[in-house]
Amino acid sequence: MASAKPERIQLHELSFRPFLTEEEIDERVVQLGKELAGRLEGGDPSFIVMLRGAFIFAADLIRASRMDGEISFVRTSSYKGTRTDGKVRMHLAPEAATVTGRDVVLIEDIVDSGLTMQAFLPELEALHPKSITLVTLLHKPEAQRVEVDIDLTGFVIPPKFVVGYGLDYDGRGRHLAGIWQLAEDF
Ligand code: IMP
Repeated sequence: MASAKPERIQLHELSFRPFLTEEEIDERVVQLGKELAGRLEGGDPSFIVMLRGAFIFAADLIRASRMDGEISFVRTSSYKGTRTDGKVRMHLAPEAATVTGRDVVLIEDIVDSGLTMQAFLPELEALHPKSITLVTLLHKPEAQRVEVDIDLTGFVIPPKFVVGYGLDYDGRGRHLAGIWQLAEDF
C-alpha cells in the first residue's frame, strides 16, 4: 500500500505544510514557457537566472519555452532565515556580453519585498539591454515595499514564507518537488 503524503515537514526548527503540488507547478510553468515564447517570438533571448532560488524554475521554464538562448547566472542575497534584512548584496554580477543589446529574460524565484529587484534592475539597465522581461514564479504583493515591473508571474501568493522547488529556509528544502508554506505564524 502506498504511504500517505506527509502533511508537515520539518526544516531546522520550523514546520511547513503543503501549498502547491508538483503537478500544479508543472502545469503553470508550461503555460509560462508558452507565454514567454509568444512574447519573444523571433528573438534571441539571453536568460539571466537569479541564484540560488530560481535555478530549478529556470531549468523547467527555459525548456518549456523551447527557446534557444544564452544562459547565465547572477547572485544576490538579502535574506537571513525567513526575513529580509533589507540590504541587497551582489555576489555574482551580470556581464555586459550577456546584456548589452540583448533581449534579456530575467528569471526570479520570488518577488517579496521587491528590494532585490529594486537594487538589481538598475545594474542590469546600466549595461543597456535591448529589453528586459522579468519572470517570477511567485509574487507576494502584500509583502511588497517598492514598485517592481513584473512581466510574467507564476503564482500570486500570501505573504507567508515558503520553501521547495529551489527555495530554501537556511539552506534546507530546495530539493522539494512541491512548494510548502510555513505552518505557524512567524
Ligand atoms: P525580496 O528582495 O524581498 O523581493 O526577496 C527576494 C529574494 O528573497 C528571493 O529571490 C528569495 O531568495 C528570497 N525570498 C523571499 N521570500 C522568500 C520565501 O518565502 N522563501 C524563500 N526565499 C524567499
